[in-house]
Amino acid sequence: MNMVRLDSPPELAMPIGEAMFSQRATRRLDPDRPLSDAQLQIILNAASKAPNGGNAQPARYLVIRDSDAICEFGKLYFEAWWAKRRDAYGWTSKADIPENSVYRLPALLADEMINAPTIILVYSEQSGVAASSTFPGVQNLLLAARALGIGSVLTTLHPQVMDRVNAMFEVPEEMEFHCCIPIGYPRGTFGPTSRLPTSATTSWDRWGQPPPW
Ligand SMILES: Cc1cc2nc3c(=O)[nH]c(=O)nc-3n(C[C@H](O)[C@H](O)[C@H](O)COP(=O)(O)O)c2cc1C
Repeated sequence: MNMVRLDSPPELAMPIGEAMFSQRATRRLDPDRPLSDAQLQIILNAASKAPNGGNAQPARYLVIRDSDAICEFGKLYFEAWWAKRRDAYGWTSKADIPENSVYRLPALLADEMINAPTIILVYSEQSGVAASSTFPGVQNLLLAARALGIGSVLTTLHPQVMDRVNAMFEVPEEMEFHCCIPIGYPRGTFGPTSRLPTSATTSWDRWGQPPPW
C-alpha cells in the first residue's frame, strides 16, 4: 500500500494544551450543522498520524453521514446502551438509574445519538495489537475535532447489536469493532472536566511513592 506524507493543516492551530485540557465528552450535537468533507479529512488525517505497533496501521474508520442511516443506527445504539446496563445493573429504564449515578449523562447519549450529524465507527484489521494500535488514533481524532471546535464522545456498542450494525454498513467479517464516535458541533459549550489529581494516580520511582507535587 502507498504511504503518503501528511503535513499539519493550518486549521489545527489551537495550542495542543488547550485542545487536551478542554476536550471532553460532548453528547448533545447539532443535527443541523453538518461537518464538511474537508473537516473530516483533517480529523482522519490526524488519527492516521498516531503511534501503532510496527507502523502496521490496522485501524479502519467508517464515517456515517447519511441521516436515515444515522437514525437507524441510533435505534441500535439505544438498544445496545440499555443492553449493557441491563447486563451490568439490571436497569431497563431511566427510572432505574440512581439520582447521582455517573450513567445519567451517558443515558442521554442513548437518546441523542440520532441527532449526531456524523458518526465514526472505528474498526481494525484483526491483529495481535489491534486495540492498542487503534486507540492512540482515536485520541488524535478527538483532539483534532476539538481543535476545530467540533464535539465528540467515545462510546461502545453491545454484542447484541453488532451483527445488525455490521450488516447495515456491509462491514467485512474480518473487521474487529472498537468504538463508536458521534461527532458534530456542540449544542452548548465544552465546559470544564474533573479528574483525579495526578498526585493520586502517579508513583515516583517505585510503586506507592508519591510524586514531588
Ligand atoms: C471505553 C469508553 C466507553 C465510554 N462509553 C460511553 C458511553 O457508553 N456513553 C457515554 O455517554 N460516554 C461514554 N464514554 C465517555 C466517558 O463517559 C467520558 O469520557 C468520561 O465520563 C469523561 O467525561 P468528560 O471528558 O466530559 O469529563 C466512554 C469513554 C470510554 C473511554
